[in-house]
Amino acid sequence: MTTKEKVLELFESSRDVYLSGEDIAHKLSISRASVWKAVKALQNEGYAIDAVTNKGYCLSNQTDILSAQGIRKYLCSEIQNMEICVTDIVESTNAFVRDKANIGKPEGYMVLANEQTAGRGRSSRSFFSPKDTGIYMSLLLRPGNYSAKQAVRITTMAAVAICEAIEAVSGEKAEIKWVNDIFVRGKKVCGILTEGSFNLESGLLDYAVLGVGINIYQPKDGFPDELSSIAGSVFQKKQNDVKNRLAATFLNRFYNYYSAADQTDYVEQYRNRSFVIGKQVALMSLNESKKAIVVGIDNECRLLVKFPDGTEDCYSSGEISICF
Ligand code: BTN
Repeated sequence: MTTKEKVLELFESSRDVYLSGEDIAHKLSISRASVWKAVKALQNEGYAIDAVTNKGYCLSNQTDILSAQGIRKYLCSEIQNMEICVTDIVESTNAFVRDKANIGKPEGYMVLANEQTAGRGRSSRSFFSPKDTGIYMSLLLRPGNYSAKQAVRITTMAAVAICEAIEAVSGEKAEIKWVNDIFVRGKKVCGILTEGSFNLESGLLDYAVLGVGINIYQPKDGFPDELSSIAGSVFQKKQNDVKNRLAATFLNRFYNYYSAADQTDYVEQYRNRSFVIGKQVALMSLNESKKAIVVGIDNECRLLVKFPDGTEDCYSSGEISICF
């Protein structure tokens, strides 16, 4: 860790508390001048750090900036040591983590960005990832023995974990539109894209990159026209330290399901949060759209549908739109 990161770690562990320059210097075995330099650098990055003579420095709880130190303070003990990397701008956190996976990075490596210039969405779409108003994050997983069928769980477990995290930090009800869109107040606030690499001999998953994009605040210039009727944000106004709390709560909840002995524990939650059951939908595939009623979601999180002619089918992936 750099000196600046060590100073930030101290501030993050005691927000809204004054720490004297002398105490910080002593704790970190550095000079007071180095403390001052680190404080200046953090202030330049946007951290609201108050400096008062004879009292010291204090990081305001209002600061809402993503950092590895800020996330780690909320992580449960089981995942305290995961490698977290926060960057300001990147093409795509999924692409970045995939590159690292291909050169052997271990499970638990996570990258978060404040902005993506080429954010990827499902079905080769782009994911709108403007500066500072969202969290764009990708987590590397190497579950070892997942078949293609089991790999789908990563996305659906993540959907439940995100809903729980959004509710924990905002008090807002979060719902799932099968397979992996998260809605709050009727608008999509989060998308998930899981990309994987399979071993062709064993048919097992070599690694998966779980990518999550959450619109925390309204983008400064609004959503582009093509998204404005569907996209929304979790919050309408600025919050205290919400990005770090949300990212960490998501990780805590996700690992709780991912490491459970019974990996279907989360399915009931998934079903309860799915707002498409009982609705008429259009099932979209390459060049056709078929109308059907959603009759349920099974234990593999597959969508069970009934067509107008009375026949039934199930889908483990795909896109649906709700018919009104
Ligand atoms: C979708 O709604 O189509 C899925 C969107 C997934 C977006 C996230 S943002 C972080 C990660 N990096 C990417 O390039 N995409 C995912």
